[in-house]
Amino acid sequence: MNILEIIAKKRDNAKLSKEEIDYFIENYTKGEITDYQAAALVMAIYINGMDYEETTNFTLAMAKSGEILDLSDLGFVVDKHSTGGIGDKITMVLMPIVAALGIPAAKMSGRGLGFTGGTIDKLESIPGYNTSISVEKFKNNVKNIGISIMGQTLNLAPADKKLYALRDTISCVGSIPLIASSIMSKKIAAGADKIVLEVTVGSGAFMKNLDEAKELSETMINIGKQAGKQSICVLTNMNEPMGYSVGNSLEVIETIEALSGKMEEDIKKVVLELGSYMIKLAGKGDDIEANKKMILEIIESGEALNKFRQLVENQGGDVSYIDDVSKFESAKYIIPVLADKAGYVASMDNEKIGYISCSLGAGRIRKEDEINNRVGLIIKKKIGDKVDVGDVLGYIHADDEEVGSRAAKSLVECYNYSEEFVEKQKQILGVLE
Ligand code: URA
Repeated sequence: MNILEIIAKKRDNAKLSKEEIDYFIENYTKGEITDYQAAALVMAIYINGMDYEETTNFTLAMAKSGEILDLSDLGFVVDKHSTGGIGDKITMVLMPIVAALGIPAAKMSGRGLGFTGGTIDKLESIPGYNTSISVEKFKNNVKNIGISIMGQTLNLAPADKKLYALRDTISCVGSIPLIASSIMSKKIAAGADKIVLEVTVGSGAFMKNLDEAKELSETMINIGKQAGKQSICVLTNMNEPMGYSVGNSLEVIETIEALSGKMEEDIKKVVLELGSYMIKLAGKGDDIEANKKMILEIIESGEALNKFRQLVENQGGDVSYIDDVSKFESAKYIIPVLADKAGYVASMDNEKIGYISCSLGAGRIRKEDEINNRVGLIIKKKIGDKVDVGDVLGYIHADDEEVGSRAAKSLVECYNYSEEFVEKQKQILGVLE
């Protein structure tokens, strides 16, 4: 077997065998297949696709390319994953809730990717919060207080890491078999027994329409089945930012408010839906409506916020910031953004909002960029809201006045209006099991 034959086969739209896929993943991870050969194969996969069997084999080969976390001593672990979005702080809100309900919350999260934010960058805006603890401490935290959220310090699915970086440089991110295998390889390597996947759909997501999102979901559910890890996909709307904040410490502040009971409706809908299916998969309740009630009660009791506080304390974070969010350092400039037109907000360029956040310093344009925790956006008007000229659409939090003014101008351009009444967006677009 050699890589030239494998590339030629996929170029000619033939099916790759398990042996060929294993050969490629193993030798690419070791550096024995070059980036340009891998790029040729990835492009051929992008164009010609892979069927379920190939995609599952690709996933399992990537999962096995590095360490596989063994969480069996923690009991039954249900993981949660989002395909990414703008202002998506669901992991920070949801994991303390499920932990407070007695479900082990052992979560390895990622950093921001392209225009989307990442949980690890957000948590690091809490002074002292250590995201790179040892796996032993990670597991002990889950045993002791029921929750830990850390970064991917282990060598989990290194083949995916290499391939993802390569795909990013050759315009090959947006392929369903490649995205599905990338996500599921990391989930399988991270050791969960069952998985709830938040598949985001819309202008601020990788999947721009419902059909693509359904196809991605079906592919991931099928991989989960083959790998013995039951998976459920909840399709969520990403046509506008989730909640009212975009940016690292701004999102932590919103998380604390949400767990205190002041939760934006869109966040609540997603938390209730995902959380209910996590409870179901954990074997703690089959009735989704009853599960939603349990979640609302645990938030109201204050136990979910208390669990978030414990999580922060246990990972070295300064909990005085949780008790008093005004301690978070503010950006130097807070610039109001005013509407230049009147009407009902009909659509928002959510991907562009993600890029505005990156341009302020909240995300990385290049891999080596430093994150600025203070900066970001506060969004005051969303789809369906009525706007008059001069109304505040939002606020830019910037450390550089010129960059901030440019961001403000760009945010105005993200809004499109209609003279006719526009319905508010639906948050939950479907559930696939
Ligand atoms: N998230 C991932 O982990 N991988 C992809 O390919 C896309 C989104």
